Amino acid sequence: NRTYKIASIPGDGIGKEVLPAGQEIVQALQDRFGFKVEWTEFDWSCEKYLETGQMMPSDGIAQLKDFDSIYLGAVGWPTVPDHVSLWGLLLPIRRELHQYANVRRIRLLDGIQSPLAGRGPKDIDFVVVRENVEGEYSEIGGRLNRGTEDELAVQEAVFTRKGTDRIMRYAFELAKTRKRNKVTSATKSNGIMHSMPFWDERFAEMASRYPEAETDQFHIDILTAHFVLHPDWFEVVVASNLFGDILSDLGPAIAGSIGIAPSANINPEGEFPSMFEPVHGSAPDIAGKGVANPVAAIWTAAEMLDHLGESEAAQCIISAIEKSFRDDATKTRDLGGTGSTRDVTQAIKTFCADA
Ligand code: NAD
Ligand code: IPM
Ligand code: MN
Repeated sequence: NRTYKIASIPGDGIGKEVLPAGQEIVQALQDRFGFKVEWTEFDWSCEKYLETGQMMPSDGIAQLKDFDSIYLGAVGWPTVPDHVSLWGLLLPIRRELHQYANVRRIRLLDGIQSPLAGRGPKDIDFVVVRENVEGEYSEIGGRLNRGTEDELAVQEAVFTRKGTDRIMRYAFELAKTRKRNKVTSATKSNGIMHSMPFWDERFAEMASRYPEAETDQFHIDILTAHFVLHPDWFEVVVASNLFGDILSDLGPAIAGSIGIAPSANINPEGEFPSMFEPVHGSAPDIAGKGVANPVAAIWTAAEMLDHLGESEAAQCIISAIEKSFRDDATKTRDLGGTGSTRDVTQAIKTFCADA
């Protein structure tokens, strides 16, 4: 039975503009590929928080558990502090639904000019596998003496053997499915952080279990430079929560724009639904103007369909996106075009239907 129950959470800002665009493309593909999606929309957002005092209801996570997937726009708006909105909605979903693998593809698509001189689609095609539930994003820490000269903030990073091993295993398994079978580890074991020598040990141990894989590792500082100077070196990059967060905004910058980058928060065991969302945020600077790039949300929808087993429909979306890049009128401003959110969505829908 190819009927999928999907929870949609548009959220804030351009989330409310790009999520409907992605849904429209999915709807357009249903009949042709023979699947069906039943959407349930949740209006959890900063706006809702200002009305109710909660980013989501107390049983919010429980409400999401029985869906096949979750499709989310963006969370965060200037009227609510980020540590209230994100800690109250996005981060608990990732954590409580054990979506520990954040898979962020970085691919220079046909029709996009990389800001890196002389680089084409062959040179930029890799995946950041980001640990998504622990590491630097731990709840252990606190603040003392607020507002005084003795004020301080403490944050503990938590790296468990189970959590570290399972993200590395995910990266090695993913690499097996790709051309070069290569895994790069993002580390920082030269800085005074107890977590990183441990990270390196677990990486070496996991590498020994995948003798056919090629491996290397770089400290995060020089790794950012290599992303810019040698993007062709990478195939799968495994990183802790914070390092992966930073790398996954840098990656899309070399592949054209944060406005096209997809992200999948995967629960690999399938015990809970996975969540699909663009890498970008709510973009308050352009929200409400109808100019947000819908490609990140649309590519994210393709990732979701692929995960649900609809790989032909997913492939069809990617080809249609590439076709839309051939014309400035169907590219948004962040890519140097003149198109609106609507123009781009309409073009991709038409190309999907024609393919
Ligand atoms: P952002 O991604 O919202 O915006 C960064 C810049 O990129 C802005 O100039 C914006 O206009 C541009 N941009 C982003 N997406 C675009 C698109 N689709 N088309 C064209 N341009 C686009 O990051 P930020 O400004 O750091 O964060 C804004 C808010 O969003 C904050 O509250 C932040 O916490 C939140 N945020 C949420 C998520 C999420 O929900 N997954 C991710 C990142 C940031
Ligand atoms: C992302 C975002 C989030 C993160 C924020 C909004 C909490 O930057 O999805 O990359 O840091 O994970
Ligand atoms: Mn981020």
